[in-house]
Amino acid sequence: MNATINLEKHFPVLLNELVSIISPLYGGTFIDCTFGAGGYSKKILENNLNSIIALDRDNSVNSIVNQFHKKYTKRFKFYNKKFSDINQIKEDNIKAIIFDLGYSLNQISDLNRGISFNSKGKLDMRMGLNDFSCDDVISKMNQQSLFKIFKYFGDEKYAKPISKKIVQLRNNKKIKTENLVEIIENIKKKNTGKNKSTKIFQALRIFVNKEITELIYGLINAYNILPIGGLIAVVTFHSIEDKIVKLFFKKLLK
Ligand SMILES: C[S@@+](CC[C@H](N)C(=O)[O-])C[C@H]1O[C@@H](n2cnc3c(N)ncnc32)[C@H](O)[C@@H]1O
Repeated sequence: MNATINLEKHFPVLLNELVSIISPLYGGTFIDCTFGAGGYSKKILENNLNSIIALDRDNSVNSIVNQFHKKYTKRFKFYNKKFSDINQIKEDNIKAIIFDLGYSLNQISDLNRGISFNSKGKLDMRMGLNDFSCDDVISKMNQQSLFKIFKYFGDEKYAKPISKKIVQLRNNKKIKTENLVEIIENIKKKNTGKNKSTKIFQALRIFVNKEITELIYGLINAYNILPIGGLIAVVTFHSIEDKIVKLFFKKLLK
């Protein structure tokens, strides 16, 4: 799929907050580790003194990347890489490294990807450059492993009965997105105001995309290539990421 987005109407989260932090460093190269629809990169490139090196693991951002190459020419470079590999980027004069974690609107609204519980069909959830899909996890992993994924990455109270039901049901049929939602809804009877599938889907996305490993190596490797005086800015998406980022900076500053 190719990402289609109106760049003029795309409003990235916390953009003003980001600019207020990084603008004192303007006049050099910024690494946008999570290019997405290019909202952060675009804002930084509006200042002619800045260059961007952008990364994204999802190659469906290519059509947006092409627009950027045309408009900003030499001031913009893109790599279809995971940010855990940021240390492969060789560049002087890096001013700041920026992470905007999570999923783009394009990824969530592409129902073929099965990232959202509103999808129908194959459980996929891959953002790009993955080793396995959600379908592999649901159809092959044992009950204990599924339980641990749901518990640790989703903090799901019903991790045990849900994992048991998956293993039982998959002997008879291929579990698709809608079947997983049905399993969860049949087990979680109480309404809490939140969609009942939120935690299980979050846990599976984190596992399939190795988000925790990505974040830890992303931060360590970003720190290793950052010159003295440089800055790392991270916008987190869920509470596990938030804890890791805070712990990382706390340990660093000790
Ligand atoms: C929240 S969106 C970024 C939105 C972007 N700041 C903007 O203004 O449009 C997150 C993007 O990061 C990418 N991404 C997530 N994890 C990644 C990783 N480990 N390495 C590289 N890209 C990643 C996703 O594919 C997605 O496109």
